[in-house]
Amino acid sequence: MSDEPTQTNRRNWDERVAIHLDDRSGIYDVEAFLRGGNALLPLELDEIGDVSGLKIAHLQCHFGIDTLSLARLGAEVTGLDFSASAIAAARELARQSGLQANFVEANVYDAAEHLTPSGFDMVYVSWGAINWLQDIGAWAEAVAAVLKPGGRLFLAEGHPTLQQLEEVDGKLVVTYPLDTTLRFREEKTYAGDGQVLHNRDTFEWIHSMGSLFAALTEAGMRVESLREHDSLPWPAVPSMTQGVDRMFRMPEGRPSPPLAFTLTARKA
Ligand SMILES: C[S@@+](CC[C@H](N)C(=O)[O-])C[C@H]1O[C@@H](n2cnc3c(N)ncnc32)[C@H](O)[C@@H]1O
Repeated sequence: MSDEPTQTNRRNWDERVAIHLDDRSGIYDVEAFLRGGNALLPLELDEIGDVSGLKIAHLQCHFGIDTLSLARLGAEVTGLDFSASAIAAARELARQSGLQANFVEANVYDAAEHLTPSGFDMVYVSWGAINWLQDIGAWAEAVAAVLKPGGRLFLAEGHPTLQQLEEVDGKLVVTYPLDTTLRFREEKTYAGDGQVLHNRDTFEWIHSMGSLFAALTEAGMRVESLREHDSLPWPAVPSMTQGVDRMFRMPEGRPSPPLAFTLTARKA
């Protein structure tokens, strides 16, 4: 974990954990979760299928609220993240909720060294995960390595088309190139009611659908479904508004680019 992008991103994510735990905007509702709620979005619950009894590896699990929500649905869960503060918070959330889960601190590329190789029925990855990874091929290899033969990846993500856009004077403008290292400096994170970050620098990558498909295929995975959505769990551009399903959309009457996608792929 010694390269500059990894260290820079890890410092940023270590700091975001406390801010996200304290979020009152509704993006992370820890209190509702502790009252017995499920943090998975209706969109995910519709598509993920019955997870009861499945061994699930949640890669890039952040502070574990989705991991523990999968446990609440009856899965046997392991969450992995490279942020020490995220993993500490996830273990504490497991303790507070009384739910059973393993949490592992590791770089996602090294997942097979830290989790049982070929040990999982499902790998779950969601919402703002693969954009932190330069090498999408190595990520796909890591996913395949921890899945049992016949095991399934469930991926819910921001759409690369949306990620390329910025809103300028109310118009969406294609701003960022695909498959290129991007450096950002953001004062705030997407949740946490405007609290200010000290570790503001990040490195990100926008992976095209083609690169993702090629990476999974080369890692021995067969893509079984791909759905594009006109909604997203965070307000990626300022004019988006939130619906009762907790998802953000472009304002009524404005054409929307694809904002998110869900993909499933199976290991041969
Ligand atoms: C936006 S969060 C994932 C979203 C998650 N569904 C959530 O909101 O709870 C992105 C996570 O990726 C983790 N991450 C970024 N790069 C990583 C890497 N190379 N290895 C492991 N975790 C990484 C960060 O620490 C962070 O917790």
